[in-house]
Amino acid sequence: MTLQGEQVLVTGATGFLGGALALKLAAQGVRVRALVRTPAKAEFLPPEIERFPGDVTDTAAMRRAVQGCSVVFHVAAVFNGVAPQFAVNVDGTRSVAAAAGEAGVKRLVHVSSIASYGVNYTTDVTEDMALAPGAMPYNVTKAQGENVVREVAARYDLSYTIIRPSMIYGPKSGLWTEQMFRLASLNPTPWIGDGSGSAYPIYVDDVVDLLILVATHPNAHNQAFNCTPDPSPTWRDYLQSYSRLAGHDNWLAIPPLLMLAVGGIAMLVSPPLSEGRDLPDMIQFARRHITFKMTKARELLGWQPQVDLATGIARSADYLRSIGKLT
Ligand SMILES: NC(=O)c1ccc[n+]([C@@H]2O[C@H](COP(=O)([O-])OP(=O)(O)OC[C@H]3O[C@@H](n4cnc5c(N)ncnc54)[C@H](OP(=O)(O)O)[C@@H]3O)[C@@H](O)[C@H]2O)c1
Repeated sequence: MTLQGEQVLVTGATGFLGGALALKLAAQGVRVRALVRTPAKAEFLPPEIERFPGDVTDTAAMRRAVQGCSVVFHVAAVFNGVAPQFAVNVDGTRSVAAAAGEAGVKRLVHVSSIASYGVNYTTDVTEDMALAPGAMPYNVTKAQGENVVREVAARYDLSYTIIRPSMIYGPKSGLWTEQMFRLASLNPTPWIGDGSGSAYPIYVDDVVDLLILVATHPNAHNQAFNCTPDPSPTWRDYLQSYSRLAGHDNWLAIPPLLMLAVGGIAMLVSPPLSEGRDLPDMIQFARRHITFKMTKARELLGWQPQVDLATGIARSADYLRSIGKLT
């Protein structure tokens, strides 16, 4: 089954991932309704994509937004502020999922994150492992968002699929393309130690393709899937791909013990629910050799990421040129 001709809702369609998803769906002949909170941010969407004004925390608006939809892609989230993240990533997810359940949509595709697993795993991570998000509000709220999806889906007998992407990069990625390129342009590029720990860059088109696949795949019913590079490249592979675009490959290894000392101080002075609390764990995590395995998607869906790092960085370079960040 395909989505061609079907009506779908995409929340977060004015953002990086949701925008790419909405464009790809529309190009495939899907009738896309984009949830739009900030109209100025929707200007890049073509006219055939319907704009539906609303906020995911507005339960009544979400009930109206899902009307007539066979699939709801819930992509919207926020990344900052403790209260806003609980309001949007947890309560907003509840209102989207409940609206989808009440309306009898065929599948809710929920975008989570590998952040839900937390940063304390020391071995490769598969989807059956527990979510242990730690103290970072983003990680905590993404894990709670997943729990909300499962609870609401059970109440309404709603079919759902949860996708856990890693570091999504590519055109329009603020953090994992523009900011990483800025960091890697520093000569030498500073990072923790020799950069031999694992990084998790996944190209945006791969995430979009998996989201579309699971919307109709029978084996995706009530399942969660990682969406990550398997095997993982290293931080050095990833950052030096960008630094080579900037014309160098010089590396500045910051001693891990120094970073851990700074992280330890930050942890002591940080509130219980904050990024600072997990800083030492994050520094250790960035030095480990871990892969978030794609075995489940390969076995159940016959799918794996298609865009290797060299190709993804080359496409990102075109984007950086197009916005004048790379000459
Ligand atoms: N980027 C990554 O590397 C990454 C990795 C793993 C998982 N994820 C997940 O992928 C999803 C998309 O991330 P992204 O990078 O595309 O983020 P983004 O560019 O910041 O986009 C977030 C989107 O959510 C919308 N939004 C936020 N609060 C809302 C609200 N209260 N009501 C309605 N819409 C709201 C934003 O609307 P406005 O335009 O109005 O702000 C925007 O369209 C998120 O669920 C995130 O957790 C991202």
